[in-house]
Amino acid sequence: MMAKVRTAIFISGGGSNMRSLVEASQAANFPAQIILVLSNRPDAGGLAYAAEQGIATVCLDHKTFKTRADFDSEAQAVLERFDIELVCLAGFMRLLTPDFVNAWPGRMINIHPALLPAYKGLHTHERALADKVKEHGCTVHFVTPEMDEGEIILQRTVVVLETDTPATLAARVLQQEHLAYPEALRLVSQRLQV
Ligand code: GAR
Repeated sequence: MMAKVRTAIFISGGGSNMRSLVEASQAANFPAQIILVLSNRPDAGGLAYAAEQGIATVCLDHKTFKTRADFDSEAQAVLERFDIELVCLAGFMRLLTPDFVNAWPGRMINIHPALLPAYKGLHTHERALADKVKEHGCTVHFVTPEMDEGEIILQRTVVVLETDTPATLAARVLQQEHLAYPEALRLVSQRLQV
């Protein structure tokens, strides 16, 4: 069997997407192995889960770094130390410097809670409801220096209901994220294996 792609996941919070990637990767034939979970926040709920699963965890508290470049060069050093080949951003709520992003061409992916190119940035569900769109969803895409701009890997849609609030819509989109992200990781890892 071909070697599994050594993958790191970056989180800032609860890490439910991280969890969906870890669970999928536990299947024998999944082409990626989650080696490392890195958080920029010490209180990220997902860190405990990753540790329980026997995955290495690293916290780089961004408040202890003087500049973004300092934070990113430490993150790069951690990725090199663990021989990481692919990075998944999963609710990682920090912009990364172009130098860091450019070090991972075709090897860094992100999940965004909207159907890109619509609703880049924050508060996607509120904005979708305000516009009265009928369809919303999530996108997994390659990361490029411009935020939420890279090539789309896959999307999943949800129908917007008249009764939706930002919270109910977010919850339905999140369910689709948990399907989309493992599938995208599988596709990208399979491509890296050949
Ligand atoms: C997810 O909805 C993800 O798409 C979003 O944050 C949430 C993280 O949830 N990401 C962004 O908004 C990126 N700009 P999780 O920590 O439970 O995976």
